[in-house]
Amino acid sequence: KHIESGDFTWSSPSNIALVKYWGKKQDQIPENPSISFTLDYCKTTTKLSFSEKENKENFSFDVFLDNEKKDDFKPKIETFFKRVERYLPFLKNYHFKIETSNSFPHSSGIASSASGMSALALCLMSIEKVLVNDDLKINFIQKASFLARLGSGSACRSLEGDLVVWGEHEDVVGSSDLFGVKYPFEVHENFKNYQDTILLVDKGEKQVSSTVGHNLMHGHPFAQQRFEQANKNLKDIKNILKSGDLDAFIGLVESEALTLHAMMMTSMPYFILMKPNTLQIINKIWAFRESTGSKVCFTLDAGANVHVLYPENEAESVLKFIKSELVTFCQKGEYIIDKIGFGAKLL
Ligand code: PMV
Repeated sequence: KHIESGDFTWSSPSNIALVKYWGKKQDQIPENPSISFTLDYCKTTTKLSFSEKENKENFSFDVFLDNEKKDDFKPKIETFFKRVERYLPFLKNYHFKIETSNSFPHSSGIASSASGMSALALCLMSIEKVLVNDDLKINFIQKASFLARLGSGSACRSLEGDLVVWGEHEDVVGSSDLFGVKYPFEVHENFKNYQDTILLVDKGEKQVSSTVGHNLMHGHPFAQQRFEQANKNLKDIKNILKSGDLDAFIGLVESEALTLHAMMMTSMPYFILMKPNTLQIINKIWAFRESTGSKVCFTLDAGANVHVLYPENEAESVLKFIKSELVTFCQKGEYIIDKIGFGAKLL
């Protein structure tokens, strides 16, 4: 089918890994499988407008963030377009206007690459779907996840919810290195509506880009053990999610977070991405758990911010604790109350 112009708008959420992806091979293939909670509030909304152009030799697009032209986003998108062109043969036929906004403050230290790249991949797939004019031949979400992966690895876990696995694992039927799949097994009701309050400890630019970070795993002295451990943790979390064993969940999730940072501390060159306030928060969470029996725990991305995870039935008490004891360690006292969500939406 031929189409001259049009537009599509998708919103796509961020996600937080429980078993972390850290280390990749050629073509954005992960060294180990990972699993994440899809978030609800933290998301990117992208409107992609397209119009046919004369010259079909180059990519042509403009990017706007909150209505402001953002030429510094262009190289990343150009790279993405080059990688996905083989799978979206129409890319050079159109001029694109990409208008994007995030629900969370930019420069909050929250990576917008997962939500941003998945939203863009979905908009492109909406065009592809019109052009091929045959819903049956493409698994829409699967191909969108495949494309999102080529933009930013973890982006392939943002399209669906509430739990997504990316990376081949023998215990997860249908799992693939090429795209994320909705977690296919039973999940205990303890995890229903799980809460994630994100404490913004350091809102600055990322000290280590994830591209640099993943590369640090090449020739890393502990790489093989780490990849084996991630495989084992994915196997173990399957039982934990089924049984609802929150103590085991805490142990696995916190260990994954600290291991991610340990990998960065033991690579060459080495980095410490936690800040003193990150450690203050972790110690406060441990003390609170010790004194109250709460099942609150933390996880980290490749930065200083802390994701505080807790079951829905503790929402009130943990928020009270966060406000009275943890907010003082946040930059300008800022934090974002979020919870598990269910994936991207066509608007
Ligand atoms: O998607 P990337 O290349 O930005 O890598 C993200 C890696 C972590 O966020 C640190 C872990 C993960 O699995 O999301």
